[in-house]
Amino acid sequence: MAGRKRPEDLRSHRWLGVSDLRSFGHRSRLRQFGYDADDWQGKPVIGIINTWSEINACHAHLRSRAENVKRGILQAGGFPVELPAMSLAEPFVKPSTMLYRNFLAMETEELLRSHPIDGAVLMGGCDKTTPGLVMGAISMGIPAIYIPAGPMLRGNWHGEFLGSGSDAWKYWTEKQAGNITENDWTEIENGISRSFGTCMVMGTAATMMAIAEALGLSLPGASSIPAADSNHPRMCGVAGRCIVEMVWDDLTLDRILTKSAFDNAIKVHMAMGGSTNAIIHVIAMARRAGIPLDMQRFDDISREIPVIANVRPSGKYLMEDFFYAGGLRALIHELKGKLDLSCLTVTGKTLGENISGAEVYLRDVIHPLSDPIYAEGATAVLTGNLAPNGCVMKPAAAEQRFLKHRGPALAFEDYNHMAREIERDDLDVTPNHVLVLKNAGPKGGPGMPEWGMLPIPKKLVKAGVRDMLRISDGRMSGTSYGACILHVAPESYIGGPLAFVKTGDVIEVDVAARRIHLSVSGEELARRRAAWVAPAPRYERGYGAMFAAHIGQADDGCDFDFLKAGAPTAEPEIH
Ligand code: FES
Repeated sequence: MAGRKRPEDLRSHRWLGVSDLRSFGHRSRLRQFGYDADDWQGKPVIGIINTWSEINACHAHLRSRAENVKRGILQAGGFPVELPAMSLAEPFVKPSTMLYRNFLAMETEELLRSHPIDGAVLMGGCDKTTPGLVMGAISMGIPAIYIPAGPMLRGNWHGEFLGSGSDAWKYWTEKQAGNITENDWTEIENGISRSFGTCMVMGTAATMMAIAEALGLSLPGASSIPAADSNHPRMCGVAGRCIVEMVWDDLTLDRILTKSAFDNAIKVHMAMGGSTNAIIHVIAMARRAGIPLDMQRFDDISREIPVIANVRPSGKYLMEDFFYAGGLRALIHELKGKLDLSCLTVTGKTLGENISGAEVYLRDVIHPLSDPIYAEGATAVLTGNLAPNGCVMKPAAAEQRFLKHRGPALAFEDYNHMAREIERDDLDVTPNHVLVLKNAGPKGGPGMPEWGMLPIPKKLVKAGVRDMLRISDGRMSGTSYGACILHVAPESYIGGPLAFVKTGDVIEVDVAARRIHLSVSGEELARRRAAWVAPAPRYERGYGAMFAAHIGQADDGCDFDFLKAGAPTAEPEIH
């Protein structure tokens, strides 16, 4: 759009600026709050979509941060309206927050569309909230800025730093092996989550917050600020001022979310050693923005971009250290020769302008490209007869001997079967076995739970084994690690080849060749397929039934078919 918007061009003008019976109702109801015409007249109405809730400690501060955002909006001459949305607290929501990512996307889109909103502030951070909010805002199409919740402070136990998730998995295994006491375990429980904010390893939350920033959707450096740092409320105030300008300039997301912006984001993801979950979310976000993107692009970029952020689970440090090292602006600055710096961002400036002057202050936390943590990127995409549509692995987080491996399968039909067997002292398993978990996919889980880091069988844990090759159609937490092959597509629940694996079948994996192979003849696989009985539906009614009817596979971004297809939704009529 050429030039700045005028007040009568605002979307909210249809609700508030005209003179008819309905607009009388809208204005009189605003006056019911104690507002005056001066509060809203001729001003952009900014919807603050806030995923604060009392069960999500990652977002505990977003209630007060919304006030910082409002301050900025008011200073810039906007009218703020806070609209709560579902919080998707990763630790509490069952069976999996992934079941509800699209629900949040729908809620965000429809909250924005159905109300007199001119621009949106999206407040989130806990894993699925970032893609959910962004997907909804993309489909709505009005200017939007994303405010990352930011990581919590480092965990601490006996003077050692503790990382969310990663150190829980690590010390649980040590407890199983009898190497730490019950009292140690309680102390770790007390020390691992020291403040509000998201998980502070390079898990899915930190990955997605950084990806949103790299896409140009948040203020420069915002994603690295620890939630408890006073820089965070200051950033919120600036974001409030920024969104008002974005509305007047009609800086809509389609001007920011280009193919180059997504390439930039994937490159940043690889350099950070980001979560495998990002593949699903970034594909879903790109396709919502009308940009074709598939898993192969991640693999191509992973061969080009090394891991340079030394952050757990692939590295040593935590997000607080990453912030002190210069944060995402510094990491992007290191990558600048590989990025399209001309991409537009929410500031109205380019990515290149936003990182101007950025420096790395702690060289062991953010390495130069010439001395990476891991020579290739975070994610490898494998294909073969076991995963015709692909699967993913995070080689940097695995024992390197498993990157080329051949071993017999130990197959589990579902999570409960696996959980029972894994505890058995007489389980017929060796460190060479390949653990296979079925029915953990989008429909089968349901909701593709983070079960992909299958526990090492107790018998082997006691013998000192800490990594094995594991394959599933589920996901794994971004805080997890190990030789885990994930997102096998198509999933076993709908008859993907994983459904036909039997204990004793030989599985071969060659990450360098990007190959995964089940050494069973085509005739035998056809026999097993013919004998296969599809499992019963997980849901007969409600949201679960709708989810099952419309959810896509992992390689497709797990979006609903009806959310990515069709003409844009029209503005609501006001009668
Ligand atoms: Fe919320 Fe990890 S539990 S980000």
